[in-house]
Amino acid sequence: MRIAVLSEADPAEPRVAAVPETVKKFKALGADVVVQAGAGLKAGVPDAEYEAAGASIVPSAEAAAGEADLVLKVRRPGAEELPAFKKGAVVVAIMDPYGREAELKAIAEAGISAFAMELMPRITRAQVMDVLSSQANLAGYRAVVDGAAEYGRAMPMMMTAAGTVPAARVFVMGVGVAGLQAIATARRMGAVVTATDVRPATKEQVESLGAKFVAVEDDEFKQAETAGGYAKEMSAEYQKKQSELVATHIAKQDIVITTALIPGRPAPKLVSEDMVAAMKPGSVLIDLAVERGGNVAGAKAGEVVTTDKGVKIVGHLNVPGRLAATASSLYARNLFAFVETLIDKEAKTLAIKWDDELVKATNLTRDGDVVHASFQPKAA
Ligand code: NAI
Repeated sequence: MRIAVLSEADPAEPRVAAVPETVKKFKALGADVVVQAGAGLKAGVPDAEYEAAGASIVPSAEAAAGEADLVLKVRRPGAEELPAFKKGAVVVAIMDPYGREAELKAIAEAGISAFAMELMPRITRAQVMDVLSSQANLAGYRAVVDGAAEYGRAMPMMMTAAGTVPAARVFVMGVGVAGLQAIATARRMGAVVTATDVRPATKEQVESLGAKFVAVEDDEFKQAETAGGYAKEMSAEYQKKQSELVATHIAKQDIVITTALIPGRPAPKLVSEDMVAAMKPGSVLIDLAVERGGNVAGAKAGEVVTTDKGVKIVGHLNVPGRLAATASSLYARNLFAFVETLIDKEAKTLAIKWDDELVKATNLTRDGDVVHASFQPKAA
């Protein structure tokens, strides 16, 4: 059984899918591990460390993947990468499959069985494989660090001989995994933190982190959580009430971090142009939802925009990638935990149980076809 770890073809992706710790664990399961030279460099892992963990280093993707039964990646392999794979190979990555029917078809036609880590069910058994959580947690932390760096003032209250500095006011909108970590981080940095969400369960979580909960708590709010624990799209009436509440609150904030997402929908627009205009010069908005259309009016993907009133809107892409070393080690552990379930430890071979619920939930392509019900090619 040969496992290949490829360099990411996308120059904007600094993470890597395996770290020396997981290479050792794969070796212990009887696998040969081949790493494409330089794969870990941007995540702080030189080739020598993979070699010391037992991997062989090869110069190209072709040399790494050519004979590999299993290929580990961070992102979906692009069309230009597919010829490097052997027919019948398995690839596990963050596949970003929505709206990518053509790309998935190409992977299927190359004879590759692809698995999307982000489709892992959020059940207890699979928590250790949950890449959405491991990466969103880091994004929430990094959003606060980025916000503090862009903010021209200190975060904590300071009493100095030269006078007192007030604590920064941080407002977190959307309290999922990223939002909770943002609250915790901003609190540790000494900010006065408030937060909002449409799911009632978040109120207690916000308060348990020492922050204040701000939301329109009407009847609709009390039913705003799906059975799966996600947010629903709110009615126009609720959104209006929410927006009025947010407008008065946001004008007093120094740093606003938005993380609001609804599965399968564009990100809800939570901060309007008028709200941005009402903020003090020097205040900062960090929009973590920018890749899904953004929560903040005027946010631009991959840019830091400064409005003519001096408010900064930060739209960094791939925020977990801004902590490439930590993000890679957590991602690599998520991958190992899943891949371990695909291996027969006695025979030391890949032995995928196609009826396992984790396999069924994440498997996109197999035997030349797109097999996942959610991503069937559209009828012509
Ligand atoms: P997400 O990334 O889908 O959304 C982020 C947050 O935005 C959510 O809290 C959502 O309620 C909020 N939001 C959506 N529309 C909003 C609006 N109009 N205004 C304000 N906030 C809005 O969420 P994430 O981080 O994936 O977490 C979703 C749920 O899954 C949470 O309950 C989380 O605790 C749960 N979860 C469960 C896990 C498990 O059981 N293994 C693992 C990780 C998360």
